[in-house]
Amino acid sequence: MMNENIFDPEKATIVSELKLTHQEKLFKIQLDNGESLNHKPGQFVELLAPGYGEAPISVTSSPTKKGPFELCVRSVGTVTNKLHQMEEGDKVGIRGPFGNGFPVDFLEGKDLLFIGGGLGIAPLRSLINYVKDNAENYGESTILYGCSEPSERLFVDEFSTWRQCDDFRCDETVDSCPVDVDWEGKVGVITELIPGVDFHPATTYAIICGPPIMYKFVMQELDEANLPDDHRFLSLERRMKCGVGECGHCQIGEYYVCRDGPVFNYAEIKDEEEAL
Ligand SMILES: Cc1cc2nc3c(=O)[nH]c(=O)nc-3n(C[C@H](O)[C@H](O)[C@H](O)COP(=O)(O)OP(=O)(O)OC[C@H]3O[C@@H](n4cnc5c(N)ncnc54)[C@H](O)[C@@H]3O)c2cc1C
Ligand code: FES
Repeated sequence: MMNENIFDPEKATIVSELKLTHQEKLFKIQLDNGESLNHKPGQFVELLAPGYGEAPISVTSSPTKKGPFELCVRSVGTVTNKLHQMEEGDKVGIRGPFGNGFPVDFLEGKDLLFIGGGLGIAPLRSLINYVKDNAENYGESTILYGCSEPSERLFVDEFSTWRQCDDFRCDETVDSCPVDVDWEGKVGVITELIPGVDFHPATTYAIICGPPIMYKFVMQELDEANLPDDHRFLSLERRMKCGVGECGHCQIGEYYVCRDGPVFNYAEIKDEEEAL
């Protein structure tokens, strides 16, 4: 049970941290009240680094995993740089979980096509592991993952685990590979993976998260593949402050990304100029 005042952060402790790349760390966080976060895949929290401020961060662990939850944080600015300097046992504040999350019940029985670019795999990982832990309720899943180069790949070991799941197919690519790096995988942008996936547009739903530039080209490729607009769920990022639909910072047309998103159905937002 979180604080009743949504602006009052819950005290929490960094239980462990793991360096994933030169700019991302995976933090395991436990609420000091001993409870689980009880989030839905695709929801985010407002993470407070005391004295430095708050930043919205997607919960990357699945709610099927009780106890501590996980955040994958890229060090880019005031709050995230501070967090990267913090250590096991240090205190943070947590507000949330906020946002709508992915429609896990609606997606039951469907085939899923996950398309993640870079850090966009973080919110997708929550849903991927949720689907893995409830495999009997879902059809086949295909996971496509693209990064700028091999050293940027996140959750490398977990990707190997997903590959071994009966109902999962996985493919990945990097935009480019430095000559001195050993990489036997594909080189090219993530959209090049889509034509290689054999999926049925009528039963398949795409779940997409990545850098802003990615969406336009992924949408073009899904148009080519005849995937209906309303079979595409996107998780969007906007600069946020309150996280709860009060300040207007994250507005896209009539929507507040923090309250009405961050997950949107493409059919709903495709005509909003600022959305993609
Ligand atoms: C729903 C959601 C989920 C997210 N999930 C994750 C996640 O899982 N992991 C993760 O690492 N990040 C995630 N982010 C992004 C993260 O919230 C931002 O990177 C956040 O700004 C980091 O806060 P900061 O204080 O460290 O950086 P800031 O100090 O806010 O700086 C971040 C960047 O923005 C620039 N900047 C600062 N102020 C402005 C401004 N007013 N206008 C434009 N640019 C500005 C800075 O130069 C810097 O490059 C998510 C964002 C959203 C909205
Ligand atoms: S962050 Fe305040 S309305 Fe969305």
